[in-house]
Amino acid sequence: MPMNWFITGASSGIGRALALELAMQGCSIALFARSADKLEALAKEVEAAGGKALALPGDVRDAEAVVAAVQKAEAVLGPLERAAAVAGLATISPFLEQTAEQAREMIETNILGAVHLAHAVLPLMVARRRGRLCVVASILGRMGVANMSVYAGSKFALLGFAQGLRGELRGTGVGLTVVCPATVETPFLDKAGRTHLPRQDRFLPRLTPERVARAIVKAVENRKRMVTLPWMARLSMRLHELFPATFERVFYWF
Ligand SMILES: NC(=O)c1ccc[n+]([C@@H]2O[C@H](COP(=O)([O-])OP(=O)(O)OC[C@H]3O[C@@H](n4cnc5c(N)ncnc54)[C@H](OP(=O)(O)O)[C@@H]3O)[C@@H](O)[C@H]2O)c1
Repeated sequence: MPMNWFITGASSGIGRALALELAMQGCSIALFARSADKLEALAKEVEAAGGKALALPGDVRDAEAVVAAVQKAEAVLGPLERAAAVAGLATISPFLEQTAEQAREMIETNILGAVHLAHAVLPLMVARRRGRLCVVASILGRMGVANMSVYAGSKFALLGFAQGLRGELRGTGVGLTVVCPATVETPFLDKAGRTHLPRQDRFLPRLTPERVARAIVKAVENRKRMVTLPWMARLSMRLHELFPATFERVFYWF
C-alpha cells in the first residue's frame, strides 16, 4: 500500500534514490534538504515516476524548520506514516587535521538532525498509534575506524539514540528501524574527501544508493530492528563485536 513518507537528505545519494524507489510504488513523499533547486528537480522526477512529491527546503540542524516542514507535509500530503533520517555528512581526514567546526557540523547534522526529525514526527505518529521512523546510520556506528573518528562517534551516538528511543516506543504502535550501510558510491565520498578513506575499505564491495534504498524500504516494511549491509559488512561487524582486539590487529595490518 502506498505510504506517506518524509525524507531528510533527499536531494542527493541515498535519500534521492529512496524517493525514486518510493515513487515507483506510488507513495507521497516530502523531500527535505538544503538545496531547494535539487529538491524541485527531484519532485518532478518523482511525479513522473508515479509518486507525489513536496519539496521542503531546510536545514536539519534547525529544529523549528524541521517541525514546520513536517507540519506542512501533513497539511499537503496527509498523515505521515514513514519518516527517514537520511541527511548526513562527513569529513574524512586524520582527527588532528580536523577543525572544531568540521566536528560540530558532523555531530549537529548526523545526530541532532535525526533527533530533530524524531521530535517533529513522533508525537503525531504516537497520537495515531501508527508509523515508523527509519534512521540511516553506518557500519561506522558499529566500529570506529581511523580518519573517520568524529563521524563514527556521531553514528555511534545515532545507534544509542535509536536503541533508547525504541525502548520508549514500546507499546505505542510506532516502530524504529536502523540501517547501517558500508561504503556507498554517492557524492558523499567526494564531499567528505575520498582520498583519506581507510585503505581497508577496498575489501568491501561498494554499494549503490539504489541498493541501499531498496534495503531501507524492505527493512521498514518488514519492521526490522536493524539492518547492516552488505553481508560481508554484517559478518565483519559481528566478528569485531566478538573479538575486538584481534579483529583490529588484523584490520590495520592490511
Ligand atoms: N555514502 C556512504 O558511503 C555512506 C555509508 C554509510 C552511511 N551513509 C550515510 O547515509 C546518509 C546519506 O548519505 P549519502 O551517501 O546519500 O550522501 P550525499 O549524497 O552527500 O547526501 C547527503 C544528503 O544529506 C543532506 N544534508 C546534509 N546536511 C544537511 C543539513 N544540514 N540539512 C538538511 N540536509 C542535509 C544533503 O542535502 P543538502 O546538501 O542539499 O542539504 C544530501 O541530500 C548519511 O547519513 C551518511 O552518513 C553514507
